[in-house]
Amino acid sequence: MKKLSTNNPRRLWYQDAIFYEVNLRAFYDSNADGHGDLPGLIRKLDYLRELGVDCMWLMPIYPSPRNDDGYDISDYCNIDPVFGTLDDFKDLLDESHRRGMRVITDLVLNHTSDQHPWFQAARADRRSPYRDFYVWSDTDQKYRDARIIFTDTEESNWTFDPVAGQYFWHRFYKSQPDLNYDNPEVQQAMLDIAKFWLDLGIDGFRVDAPPYLFEREGTSCENLPETHAFLKKFRAFVEAQNPEALLLSEANQWPEEVREYFGDGDEMHMNFHFPLMPRIFQSLALADRAPIDEILARTPDLPPGCQWATFLRCHDELTLEMVTSEVRQFMWEFYAPQPRMRLNRGIRRRLAPLLDNHPARLRVAHSILLTLIGSPTLYYGDEIGMGDNIQLEDRNGVRTPMQWDDSPNAGFSAARAEQLYAPVIVDETYGYQRLNVSSQEREPDSLLNWLRRIIHIRRLYTAFGDGTLCLLSCENPAILAYIRHNSNQTLLVVNNLSSQPQSFRLNLARWSEHTRAALLDGESGPSHGDFQSTLPGYGFQWYELSTNVS
Ligand code: NOJ
Repeated sequence: MKKLSTNNPRRLWYQDAIFYEVNLRAFYDSNADGHGDLPGLIRKLDYLRELGVDCMWLMPIYPSPRNDDGYDISDYCNIDPVFGTLDDFKDLLDESHRRGMRVITDLVLNHTSDQHPWFQAARADRRSPYRDFYVWSDTDQKYRDARIIFTDTEESNWTFDPVAGQYFWHRFYKSQPDLNYDNPEVQQAMLDIAKFWLDLGIDGFRVDAPPYLFEREGTSCENLPETHAFLKKFRAFVEAQNPEALLLSEANQWPEEVREYFGDGDEMHMNFHFPLMPRIFQSLALADRAPIDEILARTPDLPPGCQWATFLRCHDELTLEMVTSEVRQFMWEFYAPQPRMRLNRGIRRRLAPLLDNHPARLRVAHSILLTLIGSPTLYYGDEIGMGDNIQLEDRNGVRTPMQWDDSPNAGFSAARAEQLYAPVIVDETYGYQRLNVSSQEREPDSLLNWLRRIIHIRRLYTAFGDGTLCLLSCENPAILAYIRHNSNQTLLVVNNLSSQPQSFRLNLARWSEHTRAALLDGESGPSHGDFQSTLPGYGFQWYELSTNVS
């Protein structure tokens, strides 16, 4: 029985927070121009609060040519006019804080847009002070051991720029030149940018793509010691500005490498657990907990003050980078049978279509997300089981307008349909006419109302956030059972990964003095010795084990 611990000496807000990823462009359009915006999001804050969201993560909000949906920034200290103004952003912070919610935004450290004035100056003049802000070479032969990330579009990490007369380095699209972190001025520029937003009152950053900051010959150019040294410096700087600010990092790496991003509790506060995510889907596909067990066995304990971020889906493809090629093939065949469903090394589908819109399967996936380890992150629209549009290019099919009601444009915008940044989903199953927030609010047992209730229950039990995790052995491989424990509570969770009813027996001898109180609508009872029961297909139960006789 492996125990995983987050070592929480004092309560830290992000260790039992519910995160929600907002695609601002897709959320709510307040001025009928076809794009979601900051005033629109402010109008929907009560909706998020009611869902139980503690912290919003906003995808990039900065001016950008949007070759990569804003992850190509051309001005770090401003708001893209399509989203509003800096004053609107301050209003968002005020209104969110007033409701007890926090706001973090994406901060793209690794690269800028090629439209950024730094890059424009750099390419135009070798003597420009900005030339050394980027990574140049006369050949495209350096750093050959670095992999290509956007395998479907990019053939090399080098692109020749005829204006500059040299090749420049980029780990993502060629319109996203990498910054040169060997240049202390680049490092300082990023600290200044962080200060700008922290001074406005932001609650932290989702740190985009941190593994790739430095390049060294003969390495994969990922996770280098120099990268960690800079991230520690960045953390110390951010903490000095605001000790409560959060750095949530996107290091898509194996657990051993991700562990390094927490440092000694002096680097990133949180990291997404990328390897766990596909294994939740794999375990559901196989009705077997082994993939989850194996990755948890490889998951290290965290230093004090740190936390995992867990998720089922996000704005990117469901990445299969952190699985073997055999598992990737299996996952593609199972979850992405049509070629258009695949992108790079992943799957561009939303949660509900991935799980066949099967209500019980969607719920057990959320039961795991909300209870297993870490702080859960929901992706906008998944709370109502929104669909996707795989005909759209790149990852745009999972970024369509939020479906608020059955009025034109799904209640997202009063613009003409052809003005929308992307078409709304109209298919028979997921079309906004039947699948929307308003109709789910009226239906007591909708996914939305069920999630509101279950998140509310989760919030009452701090051990789900910072408790140790102890996986329980069980003869039945379809049963995923575990104990979460902190100084306040001992919680037992049992999930059935199979579509069929499953019986199980768990040895609870260690908790023989306890009673087992159901947190959902299951049966309570004494917890002496063995706990034997049966769960329906994709059923699950949460219990508190306590010695209090009430
Ligand atoms: C990771 C982001 O999640 C993704 O959307 C983006 O394309 C890359 N980083 C490049 O910034």
